Amino acid sequence: MGFSKFLREGIWDIHSMADSSTVAQDMQEAKTTTEDMKKITAGLYYIYNTMEDAIEKHKDDIYVSKIYRKELSRKQSIKEDLEFYFGPDWIGQIYPTVAIQLYVSRIEYVAKTNPMLLIAHAYVRYMGDLSGGQMIKEMIKQALNLTNGKGTRFYEFDGIEDIMAFKKDYRASLDTLELTQEQADAIIGEANLAFLYNVNFFREVNRNVVYPDEIEKPYLLRAYERIKKI
Ligand code: HEM
Repeated sequence: MGFSKFLREGIWDIHSMADSSTVAQDMQEAKTTTEDMKKITAGLYYIYNTMEDAIEKHKDDIYVSKIYRKELSRKQSIKEDLEFYFGPDWIGQIYPTVAIQLYVSRIEYVAKTNPMLLIAHAYVRYMGDLSGGQMIKEMIKQALNLTNGKGTRFYEFDGIEDIMAFKKDYRASLDTLELTQEQADAIIGEANLAFLYNVNFFREVNRNVVYPDEIEKPYLLRAYERIKKI
C-alpha cells in the first residue's frame, strides 16, 4: 500500500471533526456570511503565503520536490478575493489573528527544522481545497449569491484542467516517497496537527467578533513582527 493511502487513512478521523465544525457545517448549509468570508480569506492569505514561500525555498529538497506543483499556488487568487471582500486597500486592513499566527509559526518552524514535514501542510490544504473545497465553493456562491467567480477565486484552479486526474497524480507522487516508518508517522502526525490548526482557525472565525478588530490589531501586528524572527 502506497504512502498516500496511509496518509489519507491517518487523517480521516480528524477530518470528520473538521468537516463537522460549525463553520464547515454553515458552509455546507449555505449559511456562510460575508463577515465569515472576510475572516477566512484574510487567514488564508497568511497561511498560503507562508506555506508557498517555504515550499518554494525547499523545492529542491528530496522530499518536498515530490509535491512541488506551481499550478497549485493560491497567492494570486487570494489577493483577488481580498480585493472583493475588503476593497483595493485590503492590505491596510488585514492582520494575522491569534489562530493564524499559531498556524503559520508552526509552518515556519518545520520549514527551518524539518522541511520534509511541509508535505503534511501542503497535502492537508491543497488536497482539501481540491476535495471538499470544490463543494464548499458552490455553497458559498449560493449563500452570498456570488457569480463569475467573484469572492471564490480561491477555489478556482485555473492551471488544473482535470481535478480528479491531478489528485491521482499527486497521490502517485506521494507514493514515490522513500520513507522510514518513523518519517511516515511524523508526516501523518504533522498532518493531524495541521487539521487542529484549521479547526482552531474555524473556531476563531465562528466567534461573534468583527474583523478587522481595531483594538487587537496593533498588538497582533507587533507580535507578528517579533514572532517572524524565531
Ligand atoms: C465543509 C467541510 C468539508 C467537506 C464537506 C469535505 C469533504 C471531503 C471529501 C468528500 C473528501 C474525499 C475526496 C476524495 O475522495 O477524493 C475530502 C478529502 C479531504 N479533505 Fe475534506 N472536507 C471538508 C473540510 C476539510 C478541511 C477543513 C480540510 C483541511 C483543512 C480538508 C482536507 C481534506 C483532505 C486532506 C482530504 C484527503 C484527500 C485525499 O487524500 O484524497 N477537508 N474532503
